[in-house]
Amino acid sequence: MANTTRQEGIIVKVSGPLVIAAGMSHARMYDMVMVGDKGLIGEIIEMRGDSASIQVYEETAGVGPGEPVVSTGSPLSVELGPGLMTSIYDGIQRPLNKIEERAGAFITRGIQVPSLDRERQWEFVPVVAIGEQVEPGTVLGTVRETVLVTHKVMVPPRVRGRVEWIHAGLATVTDVVARLSNDAGIVPLTMMQKWPVRKGRPYAEKRTPATPLTTGQRVIDMFFPVAKGGVACVPGPFGSGKTVVQHQLAKWADAEIVVYVGCGERGNEMTDVLMEFPELHDPKTGEPLMERTVLIANTSNMPVAAREASIYTGITIAEYYRDMGYSVALMADSTSRWAEALREMSGRLEEMPGEEGYPAYLGSRVAEFYERAGTVVNKNGTAGSLTAIGAVSPPGGDLSEPVTQSTLRIVKVFWGLDARLAESRHFPAINWLLSYSLYADRLDEFFAIHAGQEWPTYRRDSMRLLQKESELEEIVRLVGIDALSPADRLALETAKSIREDFLHQNAFHEVDTYTSLPKQYRIIRLILTFYTEAQAAMQRGMLLDRMLELPVRVEIARAKYLPESEIDRFDAIEARIREQLK
Ligand SMILES: Nc1ncnc2c1ncn2[C@@H]1O[C@H](COP(=O)(O)OP(=O)(O)OP(=O)(O)O)[C@@H](O)[C@H]1O
Ligand SMILES: [Mg+2]
Repeated sequence: MANTTRQEGIIVKVSGPLVIAAGMSHARMYDMVMVGDKGLIGEIIEMRGDSASIQVYEETAGVGPGEPVVSTGSPLSVELGPGLMTSIYDGIQRPLNKIEERAGAFITRGIQVPSLDRERQWEFVPVVAIGEQVEPGTVLGTVRETVLVTHKVMVPPRVRGRVEWIHAGLATVTDVVARLSNDAGIVPLTMMQKWPVRKGRPYAEKRTPATPLTTGQRVIDMFFPVAKGGVACVPGPFGSGKTVVQHQLAKWADAEIVVYVGCGERGNEMTDVLMEFPELHDPKTGEPLMERTVLIANTSNMPVAAREASIYTGITIAEYYRDMGYSVALMADSTSRWAEALREMSGRLEEMPGEEGYPAYLGSRVAEFYERAGTVVNKNGTAGSLTAIGAVSPPGGDLSEPVTQSTLRIVKVFWGLDARLAESRHFPAINWLLSYSLYADRLDEFFAIHAGQEWPTYRRDSMRLLQKESELEEIVRLVGIDALSPADRLALETAKSIREDFLHQNAFHEVDTYTSLPKQYRIIRLILTFYTEAQAAMQRGMLLDRMLELPVRVEIARAKYLPESEIDRFDAIEARIREQLK
């Protein structure tokens, strides 16, 4: 706005994604710039005198000293408005699907396609009247963005005034839909806002998260739940199931909006997402899940700097929907690849390296990212939440490495994936003895009301059995199974049943892939009912080996495959447990 005169700097050095330009005294830190004759998109990440270090989001081959650099005068920003849902963007919000239509599968350098479609018309339904005083965040009108999402067109941050005119009917994102008057004069507003990605969007108040993000994944919901507005991480070695966990959450979590950031993962993993997501349907409404999803794809073959930006692009879009009062879930797979991009840029800047070559500010960057999650009261009075779940890929599964450590200092849920479990095909390979959720106690009341009163008791009882199993296994290793009392052997068998019939969940099985809370409750209750009844039967002299052969054990093992609609059959199975153990 202020820089009406277009000033130019000049490239003095190109080093991979890093470009050094001189004559940049007019520019500021974090300004977005156009680099070289091709006008590649970059961002200033360091200023020294009139020299700017620029990370370039596109391939810099063929760009050389002497070419111009022009600052746009504003920081790297995203466009926010109708049309975000169902979009597939790269790390700096270039619409991959639209670019592909225009220029083929590979992004042509310097190509400029707006993030939000400029032609598409939306039916704007006003909800404020002329003469009304509106504040930042006030909803001016709504747009049916997709069948699953009503988009709320809000007054941007820092803008307020009296409504002089309001539109009704079709409009594009750049058409004026409202005019406000305030001390500064008349302010025209469109359906589109811009927001700098590295800055969290404002809200009125942060609250303590108190409801779970239900995921339909039994080990998560029952043992290590994440709250809406909470922060969680999934560290795991190569091939242990990080991506499958993230996909499962993107598919099944009861969030109204999902932002999925594929950050530096192998191209084919992202292809899976791109191919698979459009096919998925919401279990509640039957509508395609893409209707509530934004995908951000930055695979390992795309420029490293765009990968660094991708998680900020993602979380800014997520915050925008939180501002509307929605529950939003953001998955980032993998934050390690993001940290590696940070390390590469830091190395090229010749900054003083910290642990394992990562910059000293790694920890604060990780914290800044996760701190943008939360349960909030928005400026417009609505309640919104942003849950952030990051995968971490520690090399060799070594959790003491810097990215995992800085993440663990911040997040409240740790789903630790275990190579041994994955090798033995126990999926999800979440290690139940190492993992934790600091939300579990606070969420007990919700689960007791919505799933079943004994939920907290069942969780504690089954966790105790799993812990006992690991102690008993130690004894068995030393002195053999015969040394155990029948009561201990029963405990072992029950723990095994918890692992196999409850914790183990096949993401690729039609029914098993998602389990509602009431059904989770009924499954664990079957297992624990068998245990209590068997203990009593043992007292009465029934032999353990006979109990283990009872036909109802097969029913318990198959319970997870019963469709949700047949949940009333659990009563009969419970009755048969009591009958057969009489
Ligand atoms: N819940 C699950 N149910 C069934 N199979 C699973 C499950 N989770 C993981 N797997 C199996 O493990 C394989 C590897 O999982 P995934 O790709 O998620 O690992 P990753 O940790 O993301 O690996 P990388 O480190 O390569 O990114 C999957 O292809 C699948 O065969
Ligand atoms: Mg993966």
